[in-house]
Amino acid sequence: ASTLFGKSFLTLKDFSESEIHHLIDMAEDLKAKKKAGIPHRYLDGQNIAMLFEKPSTRTRCAFTVACNDLGARAEYLGKNDIQLGKKESVRDTAKVLGSMFDGIEFRGFSHQTVEELAAHAGVPVWNGLTDLYHPTQVLADFLTIKEQAGRLKGITFVYVGDGRNNVSNSLLIGGAKVGMDIRICSPEALFPDGSIVQYAEQTAKQTGGKVTVSANIDEAVAGADVLYTDVWVSMGEENHFEERIKQLHPYQVNQTMVEKTNNKDLIFLHCLPAFHDLETQVGKEVHKKFGLSEMEVTDEVFRSKHSFVFAQAENRLHTIKALMAATNQKA
Ligand code: CP
Ligand code: NVA
Repeated sequence: ASTLFGKSFLTLKDFSESEIHHLIDMAEDLKAKKKAGIPHRYLDGQNIAMLFEKPSTRTRCAFTVACNDLGARAEYLGKNDIQLGKKESVRDTAKVLGSMFDGIEFRGFSHQTVEELAAHAGVPVWNGLTDLYHPTQVLADFLTIKEQAGRLKGITFVYVGDGRNNVSNSLLIGGAKVGMDIRICSPEALFPDGSIVQYAEQTAKQTGGKVTVSANIDEAVAGADVLYTDVWVSMGEENHFEERIKQLHPYQVNQTMVEKTNNKDLIFLHCLPAFHDLETQVGKEVHKKFGLSEMEVTDEVFRSKHSFVFAQAENRLHTIKALMAATNQKA
């Protein structure tokens, strides 16, 4: 059995460099099996609970389809379906769910909620995004980089944008774990929390990685293998919209920034949903209110040959499947 058996996955801190590689290798194998139509019902007969306090396309669908492919059944519990934290403590809910289900996915606000679930459920708990971390996203990002660049170690990975959100926090930790030259480029007011930077720096010392946090775009993006961005305003932070637009406008990923990397094989990634499309409801509102026609990434870059965002989105399925199988396969 895998050394990961029975473990929860709340942050990439929980997993070693070799465990991360093991998951990515497993995801490659599961992806190949899926493409070839080879069954892989490693969780046959299991029941999985999926708790969502926030909306989701990729994470929800990846967990659901992964369950189907692995022979497990997924039960979706939205924010109005259960009492979690409202009329019943997280701890009691965890005990009840853990007595009926074989594993629990949680997406929501407070990271403490997912920690409490994991402490009391008695079954593996997988973090499908909290305000602090989004670790399953990074597994898909790393699989995509491995597919395109053939390796993770030594990759120059530049995240541009909100340096304090769940995705950048997880990339910083994950990048350090696998020995990347990981650079977070954001305005100073949005630099990552010092404790996370410190953790990443300590980790990078052991893996041969490098950690840089900088507000200087020219310096940060020079020589990038990967350029990554995320929305300027994360779920639950909508009241910061105007402030974020002002802070992050200079950090938009556009053709000028792509040229500054000086890498013809540059890989552009975005966890999605991407806010580059003014046809969306919020897009239209932003255009009307702030006069902006494009946000964190221009359509030109998003649709360019550098962009692997849809391969990245598909890889959520294969990596989440690997995570569930590695931590929960009983036989
Ligand atoms: N990238 C990601 O987590 O997407 P969803 O919010 O659609 O799940
Ligand atoms: N940082 C974004 C990621 C969405 C997948 C958010 O939390 O909304």
